[in-house]
Amino acid sequence: MPHSLAYTGAGLALVALIGWLLEARDTGDETTQSTWPPVLAVSIAAIALGVAFDASRLGLVLSVPVALGFSLALLHTLARRPHVYGAVSSVSPEVLQRHALAGDAIVLERTANRRVSRRTVLQGSAWLGIGAMLAATGGVIVDFLWSRDVQGFGGIVAAGNVRKFPPGSKTKITAGKFWLVHLTAEQGGPGFLALWQKCPHLGCTVPWEPGYSFTDKVTGSSKRGWFRCPCHQSTYNDAGVRVFGPAPRSMDRMALTIAPDGEIEVDTATIEKGAVDNAASAVTVPKV
Ligand code: FES
Repeated sequence: MPHSLAYTGAGLALVALIGWLLEARDTGDETTQSTWPPVLAVSIAAIALGVAFDASRLGLVLSVPVALGFSLALLHTLARRPHVYGAVSSVSPEVLQRHALAGDAIVLERTANRRVSRRTVLQGSAWLGIGAMLAATGGVIVDFLWSRDVQGFGGIVAAGNVRKFPPGSKTKITAGKFWLVHLTAEQGGPGFLALWQKCPHLGCTVPWEPGYSFTDKVTGSSKRGWFRCPCHQSTYNDAGVRVFGPAPRSMDRMALTIAPDGEIEVDTATIEKGAVDNAASAVTVPKV
């Protein structure tokens, strides 16, 4: 919603800008006429870029300031232009007197029977555009600050019941960006661990490679199945403990709780740095 408001505002500002250029043509303003192609091109490009980057909110960042700037420039220019009327007879004596006292210039428009002056349309669209863009920006700020239950990564993610995950299994929970690991006693458990899929080295996504063979030089254990980062080959055991590669530590862990009925919940906002005792953090299934 804020984005559509922003683009409505940007569109109105564009209408105002085109109107301003038409007026410059009518009044023979050569300076404005000679600069309008780049001005128009830049504003259209900025708004198009804004629309293209809509998903990242960059849309607002790009289109609002440009359109807002043109709207304000338009209003400033209009305020200094002569007042245009269809005919002097169509203006009330009070208005004429006010212009005379203020020293305003008045010109007669070529289309004498125009009901609404171009100035009114331009000013209206510029103000509407400014209002829409400010409302859109305010909407985005409120949207950003409004607290609500975060679903997916960044909030609590329900992973399922312990019965779904056999001992030794590694299950990728895409919504929470973690691996749910059911450690056996041989692997340091028994218990469950939630390992953040992001490699502590440079942030690549770490997959579980069930067919990959490797010998842990520290323990001498040689087996198939490791977490292995495709970027620089950092290698981690079942509990996400680093055994090889440039990663500065083991895989990071997320806070995990198991309800008495076996339902697993992972708080993806609470992340602890990985360490060699990752397996010691495994949560055991409560006895009921
Ligand atoms: Fe994983 Fe470099 S990002 S090893």
